[in-house]
Amino acid sequence: MPAEPVLTDLGRHGDADAEPGLIDFAVNVRGGTPAFVLDALARRLGDLAAYPGAGDQQRAVEAIARRHDRDPSEVMVLAGAAEGFALLPELAPRRAALIQPSFTEPERALRAAGIAIDQVVLPPPWTLVPELVPEDADLVVLGNPTNPTSVLHPRQTIEALRRPGRVIVVDEAFADVVPGEPESLAAVRADDILVLRSITKTFALAGLRAGYILGSPELLARLGRRRPHWPLGTLQLAALELCAGEVAAEYARAEAMSVVEQRDWMINALTAAGIVVVGQPSASFVTISVADGTAVKAALRAHGYAVRSCANFVGMDADHLRLAVRDPQTVDGLVDAFGKVLR
Ligand SMILES: Cc1ncc(COP(=O)(O)O)c(C=O)c1O
Repeated sequence: MPAEPVLTDLGRHGDADAEPGLIDFAVNVRGGTPAFVLDALARRLGDLAAYPGAGDQQRAVEAIARRHDRDPSEVMVLAGAAEGFALLPELAPRRAALIQPSFTEPERALRAAGIAIDQVVLPPPWTLVPELVPEDADLVVLGNPTNPTSVLHPRQTIEALRRPGRVIVVDEAFADVVPGEPESLAAVRADDILVLRSITKTFALAGLRAGYILGSPELLARLGRRRPHWPLGTLQLAALELCAGEVAAEYARAEAMSVVEQRDWMINALTAAGIVVVGQPSASFVTISVADGTAVKAALRAHGYAVRSCANFVGMDADHLRLAVRDPQTVDGLVDAFGKVLR
């Protein structure tokens, strides 16, 4: 069996904590996969003997283009937003600035390619200050809303990061949990902005690996030049087409409203129990600050709860824990467990 990566390992994600049998606050995927998605995928199982068809790819790309008011040439489908990070070295940046704390995969991918990295660490409450980014950074990567801080940056502030010769990558994997997506740059046509999107969170499809990137055809061509033929399978393409459609949009809108209600409830319950919620959460997770975070996490595990340590996020430490937003009853159980653990 492979050794468990240490809490500070960049490659460690919430799924490492969500052991079978534990109540999962560690992984930021919403509840179950919606039935309309499962049924549609089940109907395609009989097609798996064939290679993914050009029609499957085209329908997915066109549906995504319609969803974001883009031209199909500005869409590239991905095996999850995570694949987008793995492709970033293809842009051959000289100096990449990572707005931190944030998701660890961009750093992992850029480091593996030997690209120089500047960590632009924002202090709580993690307000984005464009001037903190080195002027000569030719790649800037940030999340909006950001994992793990749950902070939503104004789109004007992100646009203020633009400089001649610089590409900005906005990871919008969680943008659809924000009602109305007011700060999304997905529909903005610009030569220097790439937007990554995921369908694995809101539609609970993490095991399928499906997402996409939006940007100029020139940048997309550079990113994709070394990909294999058939980078995505038939089911991934079918899911992307479906999740960009109207039924899915309705589902995502309802899910986003439910995130807001559940998050408000959860923040009140945690705060009432004396637990410090950090920053102003806007996504489907909240970050708390707690003394002896690693011990607390272990004790919660013993009470049946999985929470995500923030020990491997740059600018955070083991005394920050990230909690996925869950329904009131499930949160009640966690708050009870906190009561026993922190006593
Ligand atoms: C902020 C962020 N971006 C991207 C991803 C990857 O998403 P996907 O499942 O589409 O690869 C994750 C997954 O945890 C994430 O938290």
